[in-house]
Amino acid sequence: MSFSIERYKEESRKVDVTGIKWDEVTAHPLSKGDLFCLHYMMDIENHVPLYLSHLLVTRACMDPILTAFLACWNYEELWHGENIGRLLNLYGIEFDTQERIANVRANLGFQNSVSILSTMAGSWMLKDFSAVYLSIGAINELSTLTGYGALIRKSGHPVLKDLLGRIIKDERRHFAFYFNSSKEWLSGNAKAQKIDRWMLDRVWVPVGQGVKTQEEVDALAIYLFDDEQGEEELLELDAKIGKLPGLAGIKLMSKALYAARERVKRNPTWAWRLIENEEWAVKPPKKSPVGELTTRHSQGVEAEPVEAGTP
Ligand SMILES: [Fe+2]
Ligand SMILES: [Fe+2]
Repeated sequence: MSFSIERYKEESRKVDVTGIKWDEVTAHPLSKGDLFCLHYMMDIENHVPLYLSHLLVTRACMDPILTAFLACWNYEELWHGENIGRLLNLYGIEFDTQERIANVRANLGFQNSVSILSTMAGSWMLKDFSAVYLSIGAINELSTLTGYGALIRKSGHPVLKDLLGRIIKDERRHFAFYFNSSKEWLSGNAKAQKIDRWMLDRVWVPVGQGVKTQEEVDALAIYLFDDEQGEEELLELDAKIGKLPGLAGIKLMSKALYAARERVKRNPTWAWRLIENEEWAVKPPKKSPVGELTTRHSQGVEAEPVEAGTP
């Protein structure tokens, strides 16, 4: 698996959706589980700029190769979220994308600021912070593309398959960057390997957790991976991450699946009730209405033309 940052900078672009049969989206049904996953995935794709805001205050951003990657990566992820939203809208689920994104962010509240500050402080105290961040990046990208593959299989929806197939190609490139960079950092660096292993074993959570609740994370895991093939895919995913120096035999996504299964065993309605009750709407925040956060107080107000000139 090779990755060239120069080639990536040249070739990075928004996912090409030419030829996708958008007009056939409603011709094939999507189950409640498919829809639950699509909302989850869209929200997490759309959350990337906030995730980026956490990274840009860390020592990892002293590295110009990393910041070049992040500049392109952020743009590509934006179009993943946009296109999943488009598919949902065409399927007949109405929501305003900007409002939904603003609601997700507003609901994070104070926790978001605390998280930025602690990541920043942690990174400056920890010389090998980048090793941890890069391996988490590799796990997140690999989990994302594995999740998209599982949703293609579960849904059997041809238009969704076409869209997610194209997005998966981007996620593969993202995975290659994170995996190779993290391998480079960890190779021959016993201290970084030890810290990375310790953090992944104790602090790591599946992609999306924090923005989504434990029950929502479990619902996604159970719907997509709670069968023989799903479990196999997660074990393979862990084995791939286990190839990084110092991470042999690590159990991450499979461990998350087994923990989700345990919670469902204790309470059989756990996770499934979210899917059954179609709980994918994002509630407006109790404090700080969206208008207050975005300054968009009213609809339909003509914006004054502004001279373009600043970058
Ligand atoms: Fe993505
Ligand atoms: Fe990605």
